[in-house]
Amino acid sequence: RSLPAEPQAPAGTLVALRAGAAVCTRCPLHAHATQTVFGEGPDDAKVMFVGEQPGDQEDIAGRPFVGPAGRLLDQVISEAGIDRSTLYVTNAVKHFKYEPRGKRRIHQRPNMGEVKHCRWWLDQELAFVKPKLVVAMGATALAALTDMKERLQDVRGRAMPIEGGRTLFVTVHPSYLLRIPDERLKTEELAQFRDDMLKIQRLIA
Ligand code: URA
Repeated sequence: RSLPAEPQAPAGTLVALRAGAAVCTRCPLHAHATQTVFGEGPDDAKVMFVGEQPGDQEDIAGRPFVGPAGRLLDQVISEAGIDRSTLYVTNAVKHFKYEPRGKRRIHQRPNMGEVKHCRWWLDQELAFVKPKLVVAMGATALAALTDMKERLQDVRGRAMPIEGGRTLFVTVHPSYLLRIPDERLKTEELAQFRDDMLKIQRLIA
């Protein structure tokens, strides 16, 4: 099935691009979300972090990674000596996908069709910001950024060249870490995530 016609790229700036994304109706997700959560950060950032999609708190705030996963990310990157204000932080999908359950909104993983639709915006962000290093956090970000068929665990923790002369670094998503029920596994996975952030810090130092 062919995708609907591409919207016209708003001319010139990331601000204009953000304004275009704010009224995007290319996929049904916009109908239930509060607002588009576009990427955030310097428009000439050398490093772009890509997550999956906004969560409940991001949907309300209109900003990426401001909820529990964002707090964990902030803590680990700052311990690794990375300053978030230098990063461009965005998501593969720009609207919150959820299922209402009573008063709660339960996160639902975006499907590949939604990822493909929203990839148009991610590609535009890459084209504007031109980061040297792109960090994919989790399998959805990896799928949005590359056509790689490898499993996340097989490419995790490594810097790899991708198209556009960029380097891709793959790691897990901080929400995954928050969901691990087993304390020992959680500690191990957190240590590996910290290690990944230290590797990123060395790549950009
Ligand atoms: N999870 C994401 O992938 N992105 C956010 O912005 C928040 C949580």
